[in-house]
Amino acid sequence: MKGIVFTEFLEMVESKFGLETVDTIIEKADLTSEGIYTSVGTYDFNEMVSLITGLSQEVDIPAGDLIYAFGLYLFSSLGKAHPEVIQSYKSPLGLLYSIEDHIHVHVKKLYPDAELPAFKILEKTDNSISMIYSSSRGLYRLAHGLIEKTFEHFNGKADITYQLLKEDGTEVKFDIVQNGQ
Ligand code: HEM
Repeated sequence: MKGIVFTEFLEMVESKFGLETVDTIIEKADLTSEGIYTSVGTYDFNEMVSLITGLSQEVDIPAGDLIYAFGLYLFSSLGKAHPEVIQSYKSPLGLLYSIEDHIHVHVKKLYPDAELPAFKILEKTDNSISMIYSSSRGLYRLAHGLIEKTFEHFNGKADITYQLLKEDGTEVKFDIVQNGQ
């Protein structure tokens, strides 16, 4: 997993729960990296799992809810780090439609060793999109947060529902209907 995901995650933890919590979860996780990340480095995904599990225990919030909150946070972080990627879109549905074929293709050029999820579009209309998220990492709640924030970014609103096609969350269908603006 790319370092930018770790650095942004730890920044979110600091802003929401304080520096002490950051130190505690890094210490508890016993990480090979020792919790020292650079945005362009690449680190074991298991380190992220340990950090989230530790944070969940520390603050008593379910891991899935923390991952969703991180998705909300990460959208702005990625937008700041790579404004050119988001600026080329005029609508939230247009952006979502392009994750697989444009956005993450561009990300792969920026970070050749990035491990990205796949998004298969099932249907797109003027106000809706259905797509299947697949990734061995099962970070569908992260995707949910990112999708939610995409609408906020364009001052829009949407109903976002999802259904686990595999119990472990490695394949999840999203149904997104825009309902405002
Ligand atoms: C709403 C749109 C987007 C969605 C739903 C989305 C979804 C995701 C998800 C769920 C992951 C976690 C990896 C996994 O699940 O296997 C991921 C990773 C990532 N995405 Fe996206 N993404 C979006 C837009 C973007 C944008 C705009 C950028 C950059 C400008 C970006 C850059 C990245 C990077 C750097 C990673 C980390 C890859 C790694 O750790 O190796 N994504 N994306």
